[in-house]
Amino acid sequence: MRAWVRGRDPLLLVSAAHPMPEDVRPELTAADENWPQVLLERQAARLLVACVQAVGGRGQIVPVSGWRSREEQQQIWDDTMEKEGEAFTRQYVALPGCSEHQTGLAIDLSLAAPHIDFIRPDFPDTGVCRAFQEQAGKYGFILRYPAGKEHITGIAYEPWHFRYVGVPHGAIMTQLGLTLEEYLELMDGYPDGDRPFRFRMGEYQFGICRLPDDCPEEDLPRGEGGCQLSRDNRGGLIVTTWCREG
Ligand code: DAL
Ligand code: ZN
Repeated sequence: MRAWVRGRDPLLLVSAAHPMPEDVRPELTAADENWPQVLLERQAARLLVACVQAVGGRGQIVPVSGWRSREEQQQIWDDTMEKEGEAFTRQYVALPGCSEHQTGLAIDLSLAAPHIDFIRPDFPDTGVCRAFQEQAGKYGFILRYPAGKEHITGIAYEPWHFRYVGVPHGAIMTQLGLTLEEYLELMDGYPDGDRPFRFRMGEYQFGICRLPDDCPEEDLPRGEGGCQLSRDNRGGLIVTTWCREG
């Protein structure tokens, strides 16, 4: 039997309503070998580099902020409050303990420039940045705080902030125009492993369902090609199975 891929929890929802669980310890690495101080979860870093390469963005797309400790998030919150005031801070900085940067799955990107704004980097909807945004879904990343969804995410439009959710979830969310909150709600409608949400990507057929996160392993569905588990931080376990089809 194949081992389940556990531990990365790429679909973990972290927001003001869903604080970061204390037991999440991402395995971190440099987001880009040229920027060793910006850390990201290992798999997210691998896919980020691949996406930047694919759009010819090496040297032009720069990682600004990846993994943050709770203390660092508190420092950013305090500094921004002092410099910009409360309304701005609440729009652009997540509450300490509630930032998805603490998961190691979020990355702020900027177009390379002599001066980069740490809180709101410049990531224009043109050229190589636009190409990155268009390809990101295929590599498991989503634009996490889109315009028009502020009432759902609780955060202002942030064109620079991408979140690794894994394959095929990034592609599905992008195709359906869903935030992570909306995607997890969609999956609430698929509580039966025998009748999963189905999605075809290339030669792979995926099945996705949501089970209680204390579901015993023997009750989990099995994919012919593999199976990945991710907690959603809402009491659920998103189970993704796949098989290769000709
Ligand atoms: N800028 C995002 C919301 C954060 O602080 O996590
Ligand atoms: Zn960010």
